[in-house]
Amino acid sequence: MFNDPYHYFITANPALHRALGQSLPLSEGDEWANKRRLLNQLFNMEALKDMFQIIAKATNKMVDRWSKFIKLNDWEVDVQHEFEELAEDIAAIIVFGKSAELGKRIGHLQMKLQDVTSKVLRIAYIPGSRFIPNPLTSKCVLLRKEADKLIKEMIKSRYLSKDEQENDFLGFLLSSTLTQRQIEDECRVFSTAGYETTSIALSWAFILLGTHTEWQDKAREEIDEVLKGNQPSFEILGRLKTLNMIVNETLRLYPPAPLVVREAKKDIRLEGVDIPGGTTFVIPILAIHHDKELWGGNAAEFDPNRFAEGASKSSKHPKAFMPFTHGPRMCLGMNFALLEIRLVLAIILQKFTFVTSPNYKHDPLYTLTMKPGKGAQVIFKKI
Ligand code: HEM
Repeated sequence: MFNDPYHYFITANPALHRALGQSLPLSEGDEWANKRRLLNQLFNMEALKDMFQIIAKATNKMVDRWSKFIKLNDWEVDVQHEFEELAEDIAAIIVFGKSAELGKRIGHLQMKLQDVTSKVLRIAYIPGSRFIPNPLTSKCVLLRKEADKLIKEMIKSRYLSKDEQENDFLGFLLSSTLTQRQIEDECRVFSTAGYETTSIALSWAFILLGTHTEWQDKAREEIDEVLKGNQPSFEILGRLKTLNMIVNETLRLYPPAPLVVREAKKDIRLEGVDIPGGTTFVIPILAIHHDKELWGGNAAEFDPNRFAEGASKSSKHPKAFMPFTHGPRMCLGMNFALLEIRLVLAIILQKFTFVTSPNYKHDPLYTLTMKPGKGAQVIFKKI
């Protein structure tokens, strides 16, 4: 638990606002509530069904490309790199539709900006220090300018082509009551939020299944039994219980977002402790997910069985599993992320077997996210 200076460091740091503007994650109060209500509609059941088709199409295309290599020989590949590209393609189509290529360029710039920002956030923030020249800050300013230019270009071309009503996130934002500035800021978030964390989760799942191949076999048996050689459908995906247990256990051991911050708006009493208003909490998701008191002596081990009775019964506390956190502020894209992780896994497991490569070096890299620090090398077995 940290006090005010830390809060100042995290949320009032201009570097974070430079990266994400006044978008949903950095909004508060009524402004946040109104935007959250509006943006929730992006992930309703009908929208998720459309997303299912986009994810399936992009994944099948990737799998066809892989098949050419795997037909000839065992094939080693860094799946982290593959999943970054896949998730990026999917996110760009969902968010920017026909302008996906330009959307990907915005995503790259925003990713770079977020990377440099995470470095800036590690330096203690002294108010006013942004006026002192510093190479990291200058890089952020430059990246922000470039990203701004492309976002404005994208929105302008939509207006010119009279395509504002297109069936993608941008079309939805343009037809909403949001101001131009708010739309630009939401584009900043959606150009990256949709892919970084999801591709990280997929990479960890492959490393775990490539190491614990007995679970890979179990998941494949279930897929074969339920799908009987057919492509997964939106409705059937939820019936793949073993796969869902594996996904949960992956998100428990390696939560792609390892930490969130909360502030007490007024004096409160929490579990017998008095907390003054204004206090900032760091919620260490990673530490909570590895706590032996909650998960038992095997907390550090990969054991999807702990999710056999559902997430709320997986540990001693019904809310201890929190890769997307809980409550009104929880991840907006959770259902989309879970859909993508499960569907990509199901399609690949149905086709190929794999093991983790001896070249894989276990080195989780903890910044704003937590990803494999030296790639996720996996060997696919010849078909
Ligand atoms: C495995 C994938 C993902 C993980 C682990 C994850 C995790 C999180 C976490 C921990 C938060 C912070 C919640 C809090 O402050 O309590 C968050 C917020 C958020 N996430 Fe995700 N996320 C994922 C995927 C996505 C995707 C795919 C999208 C959008 C397409 C998305 C959009 C957002 C947004 C907009 C917020 C801010 C919500 C708000 O402040 O109201 N996330 N996410």
